[in-house]
Amino acid sequence: KRRIGVLTSGGDCAGLNAVIRAVTHRASSLGWEVLGIQEATHGLLSRTPRAIPLSFDRVDGILTRGGTILGTTNKGNPFAFPMADGSLLDRSPEIIEGYHQLGLSALIGVGGDGSLAILRKLAQQGGWNLVGIPKTIDNDVGATERSIGFDTAVNIATEALDRLHFTAASHSRIMIVEVMGRDAGHIAISAGIAGGADVILIPEIPYTLESIGRKIKENQDQGKNYSLVVVAEAVRTEQGEPITITDSLGQCRLSGIGQYLSERLCGQLGAETRVTVLGHTQRGGTPSPLDRLIGSAFGVAAVDLIAQGKYDHMVTWQQRQVLSVPIAEAIQTYATVDLQGPLVKTARGLGICLGD
Ligand code: F6P
Repeated sequence: KRRIGVLTSGGDCAGLNAVIRAVTHRASSLGWEVLGIQEATHGLLSRTPRAIPLSFDRVDGILTRGGTILGTTNKGNPFAFPMADGSLLDRSPEIIEGYHQLGLSALIGVGGDGSLAILRKLAQQGGWNLVGIPKTIDNDVGATERSIGFDTAVNIATEALDRLHFTAASHSRIMIVEVMGRDAGHIAISAGIAGGADVILIPEIPYTLESIGRKIKENQDQGKNYSLVVVAEAVRTEQGEPITITDSLGQCRLSGIGQYLSERLCGQLGAETRVTVLGHTQRGGTPSPLDRLIGSAFGVAAVDLIAQGKYDHMVTWQQRQVLSVPIAEAIQTYATVDLQGPLVKTARGLGICLGD
């Protein structure tokens, strides 16, 4: 009986369980066995492989659950694995062996560009048959218009803005909302437009505090006593200095751009400012219908790629179609916000200040 594996890698997001369920349903209907590898490639460490058999029963009821039932991690690159004594060890041979030890004939890897690059290297070195599925709230994976988790993150950020309108208006405040997105501004611009922001700052467009101040003043002149500012975590200081704090493991990036802007705008305008950092709330919670749909479509398509023997490919969402591209093509382009695209045009058309 054919046996395939599925794993989720990198930061979690909403919709991963929809993928796991769809892979299980489709593969089972073909008469295949499915093993869910736990905690990304960590589950393949060959001395202690950790995998759970996935069946219709096991995946029942997970469609609406956030996170991933398999667990995940974005720590521990197999090629430079952090050991307890602080050294880095190449554990790729063990992980490669884990795939063969489990008797897998193919593996579906669900990840962002970083995870997919690592999985591809393992597949090439270890003779694995790999198929990729793009997931990330950041929506920055190249070659696909959508990745799992983005829609839910935008919904959460939009809902936060909806709530902040009222409290901002009641107190005549400037509300600054810091959203995630890694080095791209997709969440910020999408939620900013949908949530009626006055100012949207994205890393793709340099800004000046003066231009933000002008917009806030314009609002006041028009009788609007509050303003909503959305800022993507990767936005830098006015001078282009990065504002990031690295945790003690040297791995986690905590942005402080919201606080930075708050202090500057308060000083410059003499107005009351408050900051909300949405952080990991954007990754959790019930997946939106669209993320469940994309996750399901990607899961089915990934199994079908395996059935066709079309390996080293990643499924994509392009122009209303589920297609696939070589993983190499997907990871060589980092998708940032298109400055000539419809969202920037829409924001400008609405009179939203983009900081420039
Ligand atoms: O890539 C997803 C993401 O949530 C980014 O938006 C954010 O910069 C990063 O992961 C946060 O990572 P961690 O979960 O390690 O704090």
